[in-house]
Amino acid sequence: MIDFNIPTEYDDMNYDTFYAKCRECTGCKLSETRTQVVVGVGKVPSNLMVIGEGPGAQEDEQGEPFIGRAGQLLTKIFESVGINRAEDIYITNTVKCRPPKNRDPEQEEIDACNGFLRRQLHLVQPKILVLLGNPSLKTILGAEHSITKVRGQWFKRDVSYMDEPLYIMPLFHPSYLLRYASKEKGSPKWLTWNDMKEIKTALSYYGAASTL
Ligand code: URA
Ligand code: URA
Repeated sequence: MIDFNIPTEYDDMNYDTFYAKCRECTGCKLSETRTQVVVGVGKVPSNLMVIGEGPGAQEDEQGEPFIGRAGQLLTKIFESVGINRAEDIYITNTVKCRPPKNRDPEQEEIDACNGFLRRQLHLVQPKILVLLGNPSLKTILGAEHSITKVRGQWFKRDVSYMDEPLYIMPLFHPSYLLRYASKEKGSPKWLTWNDMKEIKTALSYYGAASTL
């Protein structure tokens, strides 16, 4: 579980300085096999922030999160509820470097990247945080949680950059959704679409999506 309010060594950095620092990180062994660090993409600040697992092959090549097949599906699902990826979201990952062969990130790699994620949250200052899949859920909310049990539920955490609590919703990872064609009632895609509608409603509370 992450306590976002613990200070980091990057707390005096603005986004550009933070970004440059992150891009040259050699804090864990993933730095030896990556092509480049995938820091994150989107508006800063942004009312909605999304945290995935870790970069895959295409992300590692191009330096942007969620641009492969899973990313395209994620973009489509957001669009289906009127949330525009380029204008309404900041997207990043639990670890910023690709784990070899897309294995799950190891705990020491997640820990090494933790300060970056904490600083990133304070720079982006989201009101709503979406966690994609088990590694992201367990890293942010705690290892006792399982995505199949808690997806679609709201969690609240206190963060020092605003008075209201940060609202957090775990969702199925889009790579998981790619394994199921069905959009029938009760299917993973149907459930996720309903979760997205709830996220859209919560976002609307903070203003029209694209003018957040
Ligand atoms: N899967 C993730 O979790 N993150 C990416 O950036 C791409 C695929
Ligand atoms: N298992 C995962 O790791 N992620 C999902 O989204 C679903 C099952």
